[in-house]
Amino acid sequence: MRPFVVRPLLHLEGEISLSGDKSIAHRSIIVSALSCGLTRIKNFPANKDCLSTVKAFKKLGIKIRQESTRRGLEVITVFGKGLRGLKKPKGPILVGDSGTTLRLLLGVLAGQNFQTKLVAGPSLSQRPMLRVTKPLRMMGAKIKARVKKQGSKIEEYPPITIRGGNLKPIAYKMPVASAQVKSAIILAALYAKGKTYVTERVRTRDHTERMLKLFRADIKVNPSTTLRVDGERSRTIKQNTIVIKGNKALVSPGTVTIPGDISSAAFFIILATMIPGSKVLIRNVSLNPSRTGIIGVLKRMGADIKVSSVKCQLSKFEPMGDIIVKSSSLKGTIVKREEIPSLIDELPILMVAACNARGRTVFEGVGELRIKETDRIRSLSSNLSKMGADITVSKAGSTEKIIIQGVKQLKAARVKSFGDHRTAMSIVVAGLAAVGKSRIDDISCINKSFPDFLSLLNTLKH
Ligand code: S3P
Repeated sequence: MRPFVVRPLLHLEGEISLSGDKSIAHRSIIVSALSCGLTRIKNFPANKDCLSTVKAFKKLGIKIRQESTRRGLEVITVFGKGLRGLKKPKGPILVGDSGTTLRLLLGVLAGQNFQTKLVAGPSLSQRPMLRVTKPLRMMGAKIKARVKKQGSKIEEYPPITIRGGNLKPIAYKMPVASAQVKSAIILAALYAKGKTYVTERVRTRDHTERMLKLFRADIKVNPSTTLRVDGERSRTIKQNTIVIKGNKALVSPGTVTIPGDISSAAFFIILATMIPGSKVLIRNVSLNPSRTGIIGVLKRMGADIKVSSVKCQLSKFEPMGDIIVKSSSLKGTIVKREEIPSLIDELPILMVAACNARGRTVFEGVGELRIKETDRIRSLSSNLSKMGADITVSKAGSTEKIIIQGVKQLKAARVKSFGDHRTAMSIVVAGLAAVGKSRIDDISCINKSFPDFLSLLNTLKH
């Protein structure tokens, strides 16, 4: 494969609309399949990960029709069969490298009275699963996974075989901040006899809760409960408890329109900020507060970002709006551990922004980055260091920090995507803002989340 060449960009201007948010899209397929009636899903993103979820539900006996409109948008029609309508698949389900497909599907399969084997691609097969198999076993699911011992620690990995049914409700305090794990428990809870409680100390993306409310599930979220944290100078933090009552039929609203993906918007927001004289308008982006951490952090760093919310029928389900960003010079900031879940997928591109900022930026409590599609602390530190960045990673106990001292401008280098879509797009952006011609080994992995990335970039480039 020939390397991808990135040359510095002088100016960026124009207007774009993005395909639907990846996280919301997965949930739209899953919840539609489990509901009664037909659901038309508009602005569905035709990326590899979301198509893995479509394929999985087809294998489970759900009819799903896919069409492209004249404007190039994907419309998916799901013919839901209700909570008990899934069929035992013939053979294993291949989920590719989509972590959201695998973990959320485990939640659904925990409620099914048949056995299913889930097989993952090479990168997902190396990602930890005990965080999700553990609570599902507590609810009564029978699960077998590949086990690996690391010293005294045991971890589980795909492939995973699960037999569900006859679930009991649990009260579960999340030991890690993970929307995938939370969602798996919530989906399993739809099948449990009684009320399941899931408590998270740090709020993670709440798309599953919102989607289920739209489909009239019996789900309630009690935010604002305060929790005293021992050992940390009498700090009080908010925690969320989600309560789901099982065995209530889901009812399709008929149509679901998915707002544009803020994680995809992030690359354009930071690129326009860094390239002098730029101005970009991004229409109809998801503005769910559990995902807008990046906007808050960039504003703190001095970015010129204006957000105008768009009022529509959809805003009750998932808020969205337009974002206008103009170039500006950035200054360093401290990103606190509590902020991380609201920008977890944007940390790679925020590291690029931090390299271009005046002074020091600190990202606290970033350990989860090590277990994404690749170890993103390693992939970004090694690439950006080659481009002249000043990055230190420090570990105190179980928490990790990234410290970036801004440099005047990054320099071109030969860099690697590590087969990870967000690493690839982050270093494309870094290369566009750098001096000289960079080369990236292979960027085909971008198709995992954002196949239109380069074509949209080309519509804005000048
Ligand atoms: C996701 C949750 C996050 C995120 C991932 C998508 C989701 O993962 O990194 O890209 O759709 O629920 P974790 O739950 O592992 O933090």
